[in-house]
Amino acid sequence: MKNLMKKMTAALLGAALLTASFVGCASNAEGDKKLNVGIVQLMEHPSLNTIRESFLEEMKALGYSEDDITFDYQEGQGEQTNLNSICQKFAGDKKDLIVAIATQSAQAAAASSKEIPVLFSAVTDPVAAKLLSDPEHPDKNSTGTSDAIPVDQVFQLAGKLTPNAKTFGLLYNSSEVNSISVINEVKAYCSAHGIQVVEATVTNTSEVAQAVQSLIGRVDAIYSPIDNTVASAMPTVTQLTREAKLPVYTGADSMVADGGLATVGIDYTVLGKQTARMADKLLKGTPVSEMPVEILDNFAVVINQTTADALGITIPDELSSTAQIVK
Ligand code: TRP
Repeated sequence: MKNLMKKMTAALLGAALLTASFVGCASNAEGDKKLNVGIVQLMEHPSLNTIRESFLEEMKALGYSEDDITFDYQEGQGEQTNLNSICQKFAGDKKDLIVAIATQSAQAAAASSKEIPVLFSAVTDPVAAKLLSDPEHPDKNSTGTSDAIPVDQVFQLAGKLTPNAKTFGLLYNSSEVNSISVINEVKAYCSAHGIQVVEATVTNTSEVAQAVQSLIGRVDAIYSPIDNTVASAMPTVTQLTREAKLPVYTGADSMVADGGLATVGIDYTVLGKQTARMADKLLKGTPVSEMPVEILDNFAVVINQTTADALGITIPDELSSTAQIVK
């Protein structure tokens, strides 16, 4: 009895706080219940963390406070089975929205429920990932932001920084759909431009070191797409390739911050914020089908000065004045 009283008091207090907290705050379509959002992230690596942090920051800026929204954040340690159970739990909890960071999380979220809208973030190729058939007209309860990247521009950059590189090692996880899409484009580009490629694929982070070693002495440079497995092993890649004086071109800025030589890519802080603006619309009732995928097309050249120095590469003036140089 005492316990029941306690519970009731707590419930009443909760209700009172909730009512009070909605005054002057952003609210959901009904405006009367606390929103529950599940965030599922493939794994923790710098770029995915940046996306999540800037997403949360922008949600705050849009007026969502702890009183009117709960974010249940879970990460899958790179394992599909973890992602599936996280998303099944979210579905069981009847979340108002699932925010899924990176391709495999989005696939797990989409498979977990037909009712709960899935807002994906940083999915390189949502069509290849089978999240929808047409990015302009989402038809499967998932929409979001995409980080499709310009393959030709990064190879043109390589032509300026390391003009003698004629053979590229392709380092990626062969089970990441996001990487395969980019790698297919890379192969087409290279064959059209007389660049040789040697593939070194991995299936998890523990294989990355060996894959890099297999390329040393056989290639002039390495290219790695927006690959989560390689991104999370970037410190190892950097150590091995600096020693071997092998330039590494990447799909993402964080991989350059972690020691890759250069990239032409998007800003993931911007992407996280854009994802939050889409979340706001979905939470206010806009149907998924009316929200096309938003693809970022503002690309920046990013070059790592420490790596350039370690490899004895001089950054040409035309680049040092326009590129973002990181240490
Ligand atoms: N685009 C990746 C995907 O579709 C996720 C991603 C975002 C990523 N930023 C990255 C991967 C940086 C590697 C490095 O899953």
